[in-house]
Amino acid sequence: MRLTRVPGLLFGGDYNPEHWPEEVWAEDAKLMVEAGVNMATVAVFSWSRLEPRPGEYDFGWLDRVLELLHEHGIAVDLATATATPPPWLVREHPELLPVDANGTRLEFGSRQGYCPSSPIFRAATVRLARAMAERYGAHPALAMWHISNEYADHTLECFCDESARHFRRWLTDRYASVAGLNDAWGTSCWGQHYTDFEQINPPRKAPGPINPAQLLDWRRFCSDALLECFEAEKAVLREVTPDVPVTTNFMSVLPGLDYWKWAAAEDFVSDDAYPDPADPTSQVNIALSYDLMRSLKRRPWLLLEQAPSAVSWREVNVPKPPGRMRLDSLQALAHGADGVMFFQWRQARYGPEKFHSALLPHGGVRTRGWQDTLRLGGELEKLAELAGTHSRADVALLLDWDSWWGLEAPESMPSKRLELLRLMRSWYAPLHALGITVDLAPAGRDLSAYRLVIAPNLYLCTDEQADRLREFTGELIVGPFSGVVDPADRVHPGGAPGPLRELLGLSVDEFWPLADGAVQGVRYADGTAGTATRWAEWLRLEGAETIADYTDGDLAGQPAITRHGRVGYVGCALEDVTPVLTDALTRAGVRPVADVPPAVEACLRVGPDAAYLFLLNHGTTTAALTLRAPGTDLLTGRDLAGSIEIGPRDAVVLRTAHEGEK
Ligand code: GLA
Repeated sequence: MRLTRVPGLLFGGDYNPEHWPEEVWAEDAKLMVEAGVNMATVAVFSWSRLEPRPGEYDFGWLDRVLELLHEHGIAVDLATATATPPPWLVREHPELLPVDANGTRLEFGSRQGYCPSSPIFRAATVRLARAMAERYGAHPALAMWHISNEYADHTLECFCDESARHFRRWLTDRYASVAGLNDAWGTSCWGQHYTDFEQINPPRKAPGPINPAQLLDWRRFCSDALLECFEAEKAVLREVTPDVPVTTNFMSVLPGLDYWKWAAAEDFVSDDAYPDPADPTSQVNIALSYDLMRSLKRRPWLLLEQAPSAVSWREVNVPKPPGRMRLDSLQALAHGADGVMFFQWRQARYGPEKFHSALLPHGGVRTRGWQDTLRLGGELEKLAELAGTHSRADVALLLDWDSWWGLEAPESMPSKRLELLRLMRSWYAPLHALGITVDLAPAGRDLSAYRLVIAPNLYLCTDEQADRLREFTGELIVGPFSGVVDPADRVHPGGAPGPLRELLGLSVDEFWPLADGAVQGVRYADGTAGTATRWAEWLRLEGAETIADYTDGDLAGQPAITRHGRVGYVGCALEDVTPVLTDALTRAGVRPVADVPPAVEACLRVGPDAAYLFLLNHGTTTAALTLRAPGTDLLTGRDLAGSIEIGPRDAVVLRTAHEGEK
């Protein structure tokens, strides 16, 4: 199924014509056609231009933009323009500006200056969304709706009185009675027993650590409050334009929003991805993010924003070297994207993003950047048949926002060093290096589609989630500090691993966080040595066998890694999980999609008539490998078989025979 009615892969970017005199627009459209752009994102931050005074709309300029784009065959990803409320609205209703945890109300002058709970803000967004839908719903250029922009980017939470009232309503829905809340939040601790919901506030700055159960509910609430904003606009768009798909752009793997919940509310998932060219691990980390985007709805997704070269918001904004923009784009496609779009089309002359790269740089068509744009546009046309194809994974990594929020509560953990993303990446990186396709999955889902499931950490584990893991008949690996608390952040009776105890065949006697810099030796049965840092546990085996034990310090001789039938447990933060992983992959019978040398990433997309093998050389030297099956490289049109070479930062997209089972 296609994301939108636009055929082939989507290519284009954020287009901000209101930054430019109208004379420039014709050149924009002409150059877009030259580059093969087929989609432009329009009006993301245009509220103050579209509604300069309350209820008074100025759609003329946007009418002309849409007409121009349409005349040039360019479809529009039309924003509802609600990402930044206009000055008149915030001056009339200063209470809709967000308030931070210290009680400071934030000023106008940037973007996303709104309280997610403000009924005035919400009503105004719904009015504008309706006006946009009524004006442009039947416009032939309209291909998709883009609600707001990057929810939770600048404004994830607001601590104002309106938010407090909203939080109390949310808590009342969740707990029904204040007694239920007291029980869930464990308010007997530190004298916090409430007798009325009215006594509860957001977790504003307090003298000491805030109740972690309150913080956990606050995180849930903040994600839900923003989702309500999205849903309110979506309802209007659905009513007026039931056939136009709706999305909002996510921001890669981030803790702010529960993307499982959010994705369920979208027609398709779209993402903004900004791997840092200065970070040698960025290509691996962004691949994890792309796999999440594909997994959220288990269908193709859209890379709605990436930078052609440098961004403008890091301390040092390193540009992308030659070839990297193309390779990054192919990487998104390799992981299931049906389009690659950019921030932004024409590089700005003013504002905070004037040094952010664009498809059409300040220097215009003379620049290296423009040549890259032309090349990519041409190549995406050659890859059009990829649209709608999908990926199948035998391996799933579990990711659950409730658990993430619980784990990273700021002040009440045995250690602040056990970060979820770092644990996730410790498993993902070797899988990625091996060329194994990985899905992300929420812990409570039916996992029977997979042969190997890895829960890098499941700090918060419900009985239902434990049931799903028990029902799963494939190989399972559970990481440290799992099964610790219930949904209210209360330690499970008897301690960790709570409802996973029988499954893992062990219990945790004591958590053993390692001091900064401490390294704990680990030894596998065959003598292989490993190391753990940051975290260890004193385990008590209750049926599990030891796979590796600790070699030194107070834990010497104690089990570090165990196995109980098909279930492995890693009770520490291993520096290198490869021995555990390769053993599990062998047991599960999982094969890479290709045999690749270091620095080459391999991904497979599968269509009804063919499979597409992506081989991406992220290295700076030529890589050699042997193909398992012959095929045609869609990028060059060449037939390839046997031994091949891939140049530095180059790629092959091989159309091969359908493999059936893969
Ligand atoms: C985000 C925003 C864009 C722009 C880019 C710059 O993705 O959605 O409006 O600010 O960042 O990298």
